[in-house]
Amino acid sequence: MKLAVLKETAPGERRVAATPETVRKLIALGLAVAVESGAGAGADIPDAEFEAAGATTGPRAAVLDGAGLVFAIQGPEADGLPKGALLAASLNPHGARDRLEAYAKAGIDAFALEFVPRITRAQAMDILSSQANLAGYKAVIDAAHAYGRAFPMMMTAAGTVPAARVFVMGVGVAGLQAIATARRLGAVVSATDVRLATKEQILSLGGKPIFVEDEESAAAETAGGYAKEMSDAYKAKQAVLVSETIAKQDIVITTALIPGRPAPRLVSAEQVASMKAGSVIVDMSVVQGGNVEGSKADEAVVTANGVTILGFSNYPSRMASTASALFARNLLNFVQTFWDKETRALRLPEDDEIVKGAMVVKGGAIIHPALSG
Ligand code: NAI
Repeated sequence: MKLAVLKETAPGERRVAATPETVRKLIALGLAVAVESGAGAGADIPDAEFEAAGATTGPRAAVLDGAGLVFAIQGPEADGLPKGALLAASLNPHGARDRLEAYAKAGIDAFALEFVPRITRAQAMDILSSQANLAGYKAVIDAAHAYGRAFPMMMTAAGTVPAARVFVMGVGVAGLQAIATARRLGAVVSATDVRLATKEQILSLGGKPIFVEDEESAAAETAGGYAKEMSDAYKAKQAVLVSETIAKQDIVITTALIPGRPAPRLVSAEQVASMKAGSVIVDMSVVQGGNVEGSKADEAVVTANGVTILGFSNYPSRMASTASALFARNLLNFVQTFWDKETRALRLPEDDEIVKGAMVVKGGAIIHPALSG
């Protein structure tokens, strides 16, 4: 079976879906690996390193010719993908339905990595976690870079520098890493979420939980561990609590998301206006509509009162080398989980929980229940 690893075409996408390490292991399983020339350039992997690992490299058409399996970071155009191939990538199934339809028409089967269920057996192939963790780290580094003061408290001969106050809104994978990173840099950290389960996690990382606790928040978590959309009454209570907190912060990092919905609006223009000059906000949900009023993708917005609002459309790509290494391992783990040693090919049983969760296009049709209609 031939595996094609594509060079990304989306603007600003620097990651690559395989590394020399994973190529070696995929070849050891019995795959022939072809990597598109220049695919690793944005992640500091020259073609020669892929070749040394046993892959061939070449132009897109040659790499795709005869491939039964295609790896990419983001869903590629259907044009040129070989009929009957299985594509595994992050496909943005809710946002890029047209492309899924094009795959179906072209006879491509598609496995959406972001739909892999969050069950123990699938943890090693969870791209949402591997990438969000790095994004949470990088958001704090970006905030520290844009902030004109120090993060840790410093007691010097010239006087004491106070620690920065960091508030993290949304404590999923990215938020937890943001708390941990801000703590490592010496900040005083507080955090909020709608899921009460995160309270313990915030405390265990040395942060202070800021929570609205009512009947609704006791049931804010879905069976899958995600947040629900909250009522207007809850949002009003949350806004009051958050307003008091935000006015005292130097850095605010927002990560809140609700699957398949626009990002919840958590910080209003008035709340931004209540912050001190020099404060920094990083809106990690800017692409999904933004948690912060006034945030703009890939722009540093400076408000009239001197607050900088940062929002990057592709956080993992800002750490392309590490993000690629982890994404590539997620894909390797996917192949290892479903590899049939006898036929030396992938076997994806239709009744498998992971396959049911993430196969979005099969046999010429969009088959996923969350995408029907
Ligand atoms: P996410 O990226 O969907 O959302 C980020 C955070 O925003 C979540 O914690 C969510 O509760 C929070 N949020 C949503 N609306 C909010 C609001 N109005 N105000 C404040 N916060 C709000 O979440 P992520 O990082 O994907 O994690 C979701 C869940 O999945 C978590 O429970 C996590 O622990 C779990 N998980 C489980 C894994 C497993 O394999 N078992 C692996 C990774 C995550």
